[in-house]
Amino acid sequence: MCGIVGYIGKQDAYPILIKGLQRLEYRGYDSAGITLFDESIRTYKVKGKVSDLEDFVKESNRSGSIGMGHTRWATHGEPNDVNAHPHESQNGKFVIIHNGIIENYSSLKKQLTNYGYEFKSETDTEVLVNLIEYLYLDSKLTVEEAVRNALQIVSGAYALVVMSKDEDDKLIAARKGSPMVIGIGEGEYFIASDASPIIEHTRSVIYMNDNDIATISKHGLSLKTLGNDVVAPKIHELDLEIGAIEKAGFDHFMLKEIFEQPETIVNTLRGRVSSDWKDVHHGGVMSVLPQLVNARRLIIVGCGTSWHAGLVGEYLLEEFARIPVEVEYGSEFRYRQPILYPDDIVIAISQSGETADTLAAVRLAKESRALVLGICNVVGSSIARETHAGIYTYAGPEIGVASTKAFTSQVTALTSFALMLGKERGTLSQERLETMISELMRIPEKITAVLNQNDHCKYISDLYKDAENFLYLGRGYLFPVALEGALKLKEISYIHAEGYPAAEMKHGPIALIDEKMPVVVIATKDRSYEKIVSNIQEVKARKGIVIAIVSEGDTVIKEMADHVIEIPHVEEAVSPILSVVPLQLLSYYIAVARGCNVDQPRNLAKSVTVE
Ligand code: M6R
Repeated sequence: MCGIVGYIGKQDAYPILIKGLQRLEYRGYDSAGITLFDESIRTYKVKGKVSDLEDFVKESNRSGSIGMGHTRWATHGEPNDVNAHPHESQNGKFVIIHNGIIENYSSLKKQLTNYGYEFKSETDTEVLVNLIEYLYLDSKLTVEEAVRNALQIVSGAYALVVMSKDEDDKLIAARKGSPMVIGIGEGEYFIASDASPIIEHTRSVIYMNDNDIATISKHGLSLKTLGNDVVAPKIHELDLEIGAIEKAGFDHFMLKEIFEQPETIVNTLRGRVSSDWKDVHHGGVMSVLPQLVNARRLIIVGCGTSWHAGLVGEYLLEEFARIPVEVEYGSEFRYRQPILYPDDIVIAISQSGETADTLAAVRLAKESRALVLGICNVVGSSIARETHAGIYTYAGPEIGVASTKAFTSQVTALTSFALMLGKERGTLSQERLETMISELMRIPEKITAVLNQNDHCKYISDLYKDAENFLYLGRGYLFPVALEGALKLKEISYIHAEGYPAAEMKHGPIALIDEKMPVVVIATKDRSYEKIVSNIQEVKARKGIVIAIVSEGDTVIKEMADHVIEIPHVEEAVSPILSVVPLQLLSYYIAVARGCNVDQPRNLAKSVTVE
């Protein structure tokens, strides 16, 4: 949700900010803006992408070694030039960029209007910058004090950077509920919503915590809490390669990330499976192993694709560790007064580690004294830091808004975690453990085989790119995969799609089927094979178009289906990791064929840090 970048130092700020915004564009891309300081403060902003901003400022003065930039995902006010950030206060004393939502903006706006403030935009951010200015002028505060006092008045979530005309040699950054990282160079500092714009400049970073406020000049940085207590900054070393955040010759990040999966799964398993493939352990949760072994109930929370991974986790943990599992949407969990016992274990799954609803669920669970674990991809993210213990998926940066490699890594981590728990709880025999480990370790080469079907997936996609609806069906472990396939298609191609457990079709969705309805059926050889064959027949009897994902060598379904995509045979419990790959490719190629912006689909943002 919105990308923020700031620079203060000895170099020209403009190229650093523009490059940073390009790296952050996946977080929001409906407008972009920049403020530079060099003798005077100058702001340029425009509806559209970062490239539109570059065109817009081509002829303008772009000098200055202090500046900040923003790429927006609209919350308050439609995407247009006026609502774009940065926002300037009425008397021009302050400029702000902001990510998040100021929840009490409407009452604050009324008060400020009474004090003579007029508003140009529809944003909550303009209210905040005017509040800062009002406090500054009215109470004769320093810039830092004015920002701090204003932040004590507002409720909601924010990551922000403020520049001021009166103290123009500094940047003030603050965070509550939205991520913010400060990079430390030699006589220079970088601020960003995530590390991707910082990595090419420095590896030393500070992850700001909620309620932190940083005042940064060329000569140093001071970190305090909103209550004005000094905080000792903890400096971390970034472990990220620049190549990981570039497209490496692929047309889109999404395609690159789909193709990275053989490697990302190896990374998720690295150091967790013993060299003889007889044992599996997760170092990140060993400190809480006794509680895990004695768990009476696990509650998995997540959103979107991560919630789908959680559903697969439910099947895995119940099968191998024999622990009852509930899977909850973060957003529902936090508001429905869930009953939580101190011996409950909550597992939050999140690629970004910053999703507001999942983070709120983590905090709620901690308040109830439950043990909370995180399964996150982004190292140092809020959920990773706020949970008691956890597992990193190590899939590397995922830039495409549609989650692909994050899902397969999450499911891989959940599989190895379930196997570890099954072994520790004595619910899984050594023989079965070894079979499953070997299945898991062979997944990367099998994904490579699926990726070799790229052209075939593209061929099928071209045939159905104009369909108005799609249905996805799967049973057992493959039901969450059906949901995930439907979500992928919806979000990047804007085709309406629904995922269903195949047996549920006859309870309603079957009414939708006609000769125009493509039905993607995940029908690999497992316990439910016979049943799903019947479901395919039911679709065909109503003239639906069947695209079936089948196990290699399947001849039965080949006879019935309009198209088959063959994938190597795997044990049922690991089949979600493999069978989702052709669904990712189908969605990708359908979206490309429809001319959609795959990496930046409309209305979406990579990391949803607002409610
Ligand atoms: O970063 P998270 O895993 O917490 O994100 C959760 C969802 O916002 C995310 O999975 C979303 O559904 C993706 N766009 C799906 O492709």
